[in-house]
Amino acid sequence: MTYSRIVGTGRYLPEQIMTNADVEKIVDTSDEWIRTRTGVERRHVCAPDQTTSEMCIEAAKIAIEDAGIDVTDIDMVITGTTTPDLIFPNVSTLVQHKLGIPACPAFSLEAACTGFIYALTTADKFIKAGEAKCVLVMGAECITKLVDWTDRNTCVLFGDGAGAVILQPSEEHGIISCHLGADGQYKDLLYYPVGQSSNLALAGTADANIIMSGNEVFKVAVKTLGKIAAETLEDAGVTKEELDWLVPHQANIRIIQAMAKRLEMPMEKVIVTVQDHGNTSAASVPMALDVGIRDGRIKPGQLVLMEAFGGGFTWGSVLMRL
Ligand code: UT7
Repeated sequence: MTYSRIVGTGRYLPEQIMTNADVEKIVDTSDEWIRTRTGVERRHVCAPDQTTSEMCIEAAKIAIEDAGIDVTDIDMVITGTTTPDLIFPNVSTLVQHKLGIPACPAFSLEAACTGFIYALTTADKFIKAGEAKCVLVMGAECITKLVDWTDRNTCVLFGDGAGAVILQPSEEHGIISCHLGADGQYKDLLYYPVGQSSNLALAGTADANIIMSGNEVFKVAVKTLGKIAAETLEDAGVTKEELDWLVPHQANIRIIQAMAKRLEMPMEKVIVTVQDHGNTSAASVPMALDVGIRDGRIKPGQLVLMEAFGGGFTWGSVLMRL
């Protein structure tokens, strides 16, 4: 059987760091509230003129070097993002050209915080079908540009960044199973009210911000992620005990802890970056994976479960042996 396998990873975080103390100066909140209710201590915020594709390029360069490949080896580019530079050309196309990757299929997927899991799942299918040999997969967001910095319910949560992986065929091991889901009935619990075909007049106004019913999102997230994790393991014939690592979406430390509890995994086996990155939407899982691999915790051959949940709602998981 041909697997697809991650052979290189990279991440990029913008230079500017905003601590909870900095946020305290903007809205009526406290470091104590943010840390205990969300786990966030600081987040990186992109510069006003910095774009998602620029962050992707930096993360991709590191992943390409890590994989020991040349840009000319890449034959497909997929990016999960909800904050593209432009409506078109898509972010992957901009990255393909600027990195000197030869002309190839290059497209972006919009699935909010689940964007990277959707992108990785898609890349996996192309490789298993024999239609791609080396895919650059990214998750990246300038999500702080969508935030109302006067709304303490949302502005304390988010951060910017980009994560990238290189996926290639492997006869030994790699991605074992992918599970995706979505249910649009929850649209109103988490959304951004402006699009290119609706409410365009709101663009640039004080009403153009992320709108979230945090408490309700929290409950559905925990329930859904628990269900998809159980389904993923059952499908693959893998037990909870066999899992070496959980690499979850970094929305809230309490959601991550609830997931770890359901999987009966000690927090030592969970990669947590929410304290340093905040919720970076589609960038959170690939950046957390890169952190875990680069600091030597996640080792080749180990069994890793990645999962995410976001606006839509969308959700997904990928089980792999690194
Ligand atoms: O990544 C995509 C998916 N997104 C998520 O998964 C986010 C899920 N939701 C959450 O992480 C949490 O619901 C939040 C962190 C957003 C909020 O935490 P919570 O424990 O659900 O708080 P809450 O909204 O129920 O608010 C509790 C209290 C309220 O005060 P009262 O009404 O009890 O007096 C809020 O006004 O906390 C207050 N509050 C704050 N206080 C200080 C809300 N935000 C803040 C704040 N600082 N930043």
